[in-house]
Amino acid sequence: MYLGLDLGTSGVKALLIDERQAIVGSAHGELDVSRPHSGWSEQDSADWIRATEEAVGALKQAHPKALAAVKGIGLSGQMHGATLLDASDAVLRPCILWNDTRSFAEAAALDADPRFRAVTGNIVFPGFTAPKLVWVKNNEPEIFAKVRKVLLPKDYLRLWLTGEHISEMSDASGTAWLDVSARHWSDELLAATGMDESQMPSLVEGTERAGMLKPELAARWGIGGPAVVAGGAGDNAASACGMGTIGEGHAFVSIGTSGVLFAANAAYLPNPESAVHTFCHALPRTWHQMGVILSATDSLNWLSDVTGRSAAELTGELGEALKAPGGVTFLPYLSGERTPYNDAAIRGAFAGLGHESGRTVLTQAVLEGVAFAFRDCLEALRKAGTTLDRVTAIGGGSRSAYWLKSIATALGLPVDIPAEGDFGAAFGAARLGLIAAESADPVAICTPPAISHSVDPDGALTDAYEEAYQRYRALYPAVKKATAG
Ligand code: XUL
Repeated sequence: MYLGLDLGTSGVKALLIDERQAIVGSAHGELDVSRPHSGWSEQDSADWIRATEEAVGALKQAHPKALAAVKGIGLSGQMHGATLLDASDAVLRPCILWNDTRSFAEAAALDADPRFRAVTGNIVFPGFTAPKLVWVKNNEPEIFAKVRKVLLPKDYLRLWLTGEHISEMSDASGTAWLDVSARHWSDELLAATGMDESQMPSLVEGTERAGMLKPELAARWGIGGPAVVAGGAGDNAASACGMGTIGEGHAFVSIGTSGVLFAANAAYLPNPESAVHTFCHALPRTWHQMGVILSATDSLNWLSDVTGRSAAELTGELGEALKAPGGVTFLPYLSGERTPYNDAAIRGAFAGLGHESGRTVLTQAVLEGVAFAFRDCLEALRKAGTTLDRVTAIGGGSRSAYWLKSIATALGLPVDIPAEGDFGAAFGAARLGLIAAESADPVAICTPPAISHSVDPDGALTDAYEEAYQRYRALYPAVKKATAG
């Protein structure tokens, strides 16, 4: 048996697979995000442990025998967060998360230093880890002075699970301190932020061994023998392992809290100008590109909060048949945007509202706005030299048939839906646990799922979608101008 633990933004998921990769069971522990100021997004690392205990505890209740037989554990997690530890590994402040944009000025200053794009192959986005440390240095110097280790969220879980300070290439790529081509920390970039390598975890590949489960946790969970913990991966690379998105030309669209259009690459192909992310994959000698939008299902959840209707009710009211975009346009920039604008200050908008614009019109516009944001990611990947002919959909948003049709039509690409099952980050993490524990061949393990059906672009609405996309594109500069300063 192998256990995948995915530390997401809204919860921890624990998932058990057997040696044939069949899913035995899964369980969740809930997490909240605290937003004490506009643009801030934090979590208490102690809550990650509580949620993990909840999830694994529930698995133990439901599948005690299977859990007892776990030989490998893989970790996956929300990327970029800065967990700051003192000399005794005590946490110094709440973790500053991936969608926190407070450090936009620090990020812009680092990004203006040409060494960052040259070494990391990426824009220094405000959500990345390095600018967060500079923000702490500038605003909380007493805390900065005590920082002895900076860990990414899932690597903090690893510390609790194994006692080791270890990270891996895919998650480390999102710090702005990694030489993404050479796959090691950059002394030069660490020094440029007042840090050094002693403050960083050691690095392995996602498929390698990175610690053993502590005996006291093994005893609490009833795990009989030694359990290897794999390097694991950032949540997007972990999902890619779950979906078999590991070879050239393979791609997925993830409709989660954030939205990601992800393509695997056999070579390092940076193109920071297009605001595409170029990161190491979880497999050795493999990289990937992705366009990232900050509010995908988060946009629908926002509308759900405002209207007092659940996301499922909202999408249910729309029906299943794709409608032509109306005159209402939504920009999903509730937390600013990464691809294609790298703009932390921009905020969302509705344009074109009329008396007749009721709830279903707003829901339709929100789903279309997110679909157009994915189209922006597709254009950015094209500029970075990656052409896609189809994508596979994952994430909570892919439960909406309407949204899938809207995304297929906005992208002009068929969207494949995996057959019943769970091929997300926790499954990918469990696969990495299996690979590390058994020294298995990653390519033989990370195969794509069977496809249940494909959603084709709606040819009758292609022109209407193209016109609406052009309106969407025109709205960003107008909103930026009207809300600047
Ligand atoms: C990727 C990113 C998000 C988080 C979400 O760069 O910031 O996808 O990993 O968990």
